[in-house]
Amino acid sequence: MQVIIITGASDGIGAEMAHQLAQKGVALVLAARKEAALQAVAAACNAAGAETLVVPTDVAQQEQCRHLVAAAVERFGRVDALVNNAGRSAHALFEEVTDLGWYEDLMKVNLWGAIWCTHAALPYLKASQGRIVAVSSLAGLVGVPGRTAYGATKFAMAGFFEALRAELKPHGVSVTTAYPGVVDTQIRYRGYNAAGGELGKSSLREDAAMPVAECARLIIEGMQGRKREVVMTAKGRLGRWLKLLAPGLIEKMALNALKDDVKPHT
Ligand SMILES: NC(=O)c1ccc[n+]([C@@H]2O[C@H](COP(=O)([O-])OP(=O)(O)OC[C@H]3O[C@@H](n4cnc5c(N)ncnc54)[C@H](OP(=O)(O)O)[C@@H]3O)[C@@H](O)[C@H]2O)c1
Repeated sequence: MQVIIITGASDGIGAEMAHQLAQKGVALVLAARKEAALQAVAAACNAAGAETLVVPTDVAQQEQCRHLVAAAVERFGRVDALVNNAGRSAHALFEEVTDLGWYEDLMKVNLWGAIWCTHAALPYLKASQGRIVAVSSLAGLVGVPGRTAYGATKFAMAGFFEALRAELKPHGVSVTTAYPGVVDTQIRYRGYNAAGGELGKSSLREDAAMPVAECARLIIEGMQGRKREVVMTAKGRLGRWLKLLAPGLIEKMALNALKDDVKPHT
């Protein structure tokens, strides 16, 4: 039985991936901070035929990332895939930020959490010739105004996992980096604002948001097919190349992704 660890499994894309993978009769190790929400996801996965283990985890703490992997191995004896999905959003103009402490905190969740979990799971993934997934963002391919903090974490993820992919190729471990665009979850409402509090609103246009089920399906397909990358939306696929040829045009497109009231003042 395939053993798959998913971080950020209590809600959104991670929870949806768990629901979809549960249909395939796998063992799921579900990690996030909110235990009750994880238990609810686990119950639904059990009902669909999966085995589950809930491990309350704050990925911003290295010790908890180590414990997550150790708990998975203790229960199931192996790890076949690690999905580094836990993440938080943020929206603030850099000039409006007074205390940069939360920039560091965001880096710990979005980047270091993925690095710590991957480091702990690596021996087991090498043994199983397994799969690593990193959930970055289109904001990790193109700079978006108001997203210096978030974009930095997601560009960093992309660079880290691209290098790791090359390192792990001889070991038969695949690394799939996913770049979702706007997906219909609560992430933007929960993101940091300039003061380091919770945004409580979305700063992006939500009209063309991708359904979470489609996003989860594409990531699972990429993981199973050992694809290097899953770049979601035609705009995202075009944007990454177009920015080399016409960076000014991409800056305009990135600005247009924002609602009018959060655009940078001139
Ligand atoms: N939705 C989008 O439009 C979008 C677009 C591009 C990329 N992404 C990326 O996709 C991933 C999932 O996002 P989502 O939209 O599903 O967000 P979401 O619905 O807000 O879910 C985020 C998940 O991450 C967990 N999490 C947050 N901080 C954590 C921490 N310190 N330790 C452990 N778990 C933590 C949350 O659980 P707890 O609160 O229980 O810890 C939750 O399960 C993120 O990495 C995000 O950056 C999302």
